[in-house]
Amino acid sequence: MSETHDHRSNPERPFDVVLFGATGFAGGLTADYLAGHLPESGRMALAGRNHGKLEAVRDRLISDSPSISDIGLLHADSTDPTSLREVARSAKVVITTVGPYLEYGADLVAACAEEGTDYVDLTGEPEFVDRMFLENDATARKTGARLVHACGFDSIPHDLGALYTARQLPGDVPMQVRGVVRTNASLSGGTLHSGLKQLSRLRPMWQAASERRKAESRPSDRRARLAVGLPQRDRVTGTWLIPLPTIDGQIVTRSALTAPSADDYGPEFTYSHNAGAKKFRTVPASVLGFVLGIAAVQIPLVRRAVAQRIAAGDGPSQERRDRTWFTVEFVGSAAGKTVHTRVSGGDPGYTETAKMLAESALSLAFDDNPRLAGQLTTATAMGENLIDRLTAAGLTFEVLGYSV
Ligand SMILES: NC(=O)c1ccc[n+]([C@@H]2O[C@H](COP(=O)([O-])OP(=O)(O)OC[C@H]3O[C@@H](n4cnc5c(N)ncnc54)[C@H](OP(=O)(O)O)[C@@H]3O)[C@@H](O)[C@H]2O)c1
Repeated sequence: MSETHDHRSNPERPFDVVLFGATGFAGGLTADYLAGHLPESGRMALAGRNHGKLEAVRDRLISDSPSISDIGLLHADSTDPTSLREVARSAKVVITTVGPYLEYGADLVAACAEEGTDYVDLTGEPEFVDRMFLENDATARKTGARLVHACGFDSIPHDLGALYTARQLPGDVPMQVRGVVRTNASLSGGTLHSGLKQLSRLRPMWQAASERRKAESRPSDRRARLAVGLPQRDRVTGTWLIPLPTIDGQIVTRSALTAPSADDYGPEFTYSHNAGAKKFRTVPASVLGFVLGIAAVQIPLVRRAVAQRIAAGDGPSQERRDRTWFTVEFVGSAAGKTVHTRVSGGDPGYTETAKMLAESALSLAFDDNPRLAGQLTTATAMGENLIDRLTAAGLTFEVLGYSV
């Protein structure tokens, strides 16, 4: 469990929020959202390596958001640790969309940990999160920094949805929750390149997870486990479940282990994470396609060919994003009671991700959150405050039914 931290520290910093990566696809959408939702007295800045591109983003934001008249610009390059330190020193919260994080992300996390600066990102790369825990958690606990990874579609709907579901159930008995994701979304260049980067590093990913398991202390008052089953029919959601080995399941079980209260997820929490297919005939093809896809991208030539399909900086059009949706349904049970819940929204990868990332930063900067520090999950760092913010921003968290 992390130490206490006064979230209102660092009042003397020139900016409440600094965004690194605003010239990219996800970063541009995050910049738009942030400029439109910063509190009146809030101060924001953009950081990046290309001053001309940053000026263009700033001018667009100021002309689109009349409530904002001033946005700072900071020079920062992920290959220049001194510039990252300056960014960390100037902000209460740093947002970064500069990925793949395994390639570009480590020095900024270290700078934030050392400077006591809160940090949020969009990584879905498990190796990056585990390495950052090993390298920065202890420092962040000392300085008071809250390091919150995976603040986009990876893993907010899953992490906050599981918390929302668990809170509908008794907290003093073992609890089982399964998450079922459905979406019609497509990818940006940055996401494709980050996914390929992580999939090409399976051995280092397993190694980092194993080192983390050895180093991380476990609470004595509870247990949490990620269950992986075989594809099967789910009566409650009416879908075929296909186990999904993404970072989301790890984040949910980590939240159960580190939640401020053991009552949130019960003394023994089991989570399984799945894609949901409406028709059985799509299941064998999905499983086979997934396994073959992972095997194929181990070959550098295939990886390069796949990477060339979408360039860095590109992503789905506004029109495509407007037609895109996601749902994550949860089925939770404890002490003979079952609850069926759902988190849903529009385009998960970009429109909603930009919202989730920006609202996470605003919550860390302005909400009265638990006094914690170190590497945290979204549920542990912000929990209900972030659910409230995202609900106000148009995402839906709802209970679909109970049975006993
Ligand atoms: N988990 C999720 O739900 C989710 C959703 C969307 C995106 N993502 C992740 O977000 C990340 C960004 O995706 P994207 O599509 O926005 O990528 P992108 O369009 O390629 O943007 C990359 C950004 O990084 C900047 N950059 C690259 N190298 C840099 C360096 N050495 N120093 C400083 N800045 C540098 C680029 O700046 P320049 O303009 O100067 O080149 C650009 O602003 C990816 O890792 C992706 O996986 C995650």
